[in-house]
Amino acid sequence: MKTAIYPGTFDPITNGHIDILHKASKLFDRVILAVAAVTGKNTMFNLEERTEICKEACSHLPKVEVISFDGLSVEFADSMSADAMIRGLRAVSDFEYELSLALMNKNLNNQIETVFFVPDNKYLYLSSTMIRQIVGLQGDVKEMIPQCVEKAMKKKLERKNAK
Ligand code: COA
Repeated sequence: MKTAIYPGTFDPITNGHIDILHKASKLFDRVILAVAAVTGKNTMFNLEERTEICKEACSHLPKVEVISFDGLSVEFADSMSADAMIRGLRAVSDFEYELSLALMNKNLNNQIETVFFVPDNKYLYLSSTMIRQIVGLQGDVKEMIPQCVEKAMKKKLERKNAK
């Protein structure tokens, strides 16, 4: 039984992340989408909201489980008896950051390998920041995020604007 964790901020989860989960499900028996509390980012959704949205967006993926965690991702991986950590590598610009993350995680726990997946072409330039901006400006994101994510974002913005 091979288990992988896919840690990230997921603010919000996009079709690019879901594409990585599809690919990982072909290689691993269990894929844990790990929603991080500690990310260094000022997020639109709190941890509980990000986790709930991810759960809804991944409900059609039988091998995927969504769990939030606080602390180091390698420690969480260890507590889940994971064999690998998954990350998506979109463009050359991701490489330096992803390499430093993978090397630091390896220093922290050399039992856990980082495995990179390359997303489909159409998701290469997708990011959560772009999605937040486009939705904020009422742009069309149908091809980029699941419907439930768009709904949650619109609700959040409506509440913010009503204040
Ligand atoms: N499709 C679409 N977007 C993608 C993507 C894909 N396949 N892969 C990455 N991205 C985007 C994300 O949307 C995000 O965009 P944004 O910056 O506009 O929000 C960006 O790429 C990277 O985000 P993410 O994959 O969520 O990673 P992160 O860098 O925000 O998170 C953690 C990094 C959570 C893995 C890291 O902070 C962590 O491990 N935290 C726990 C504490 C810890 O262990 N720290 C030590 C690390 S050495």
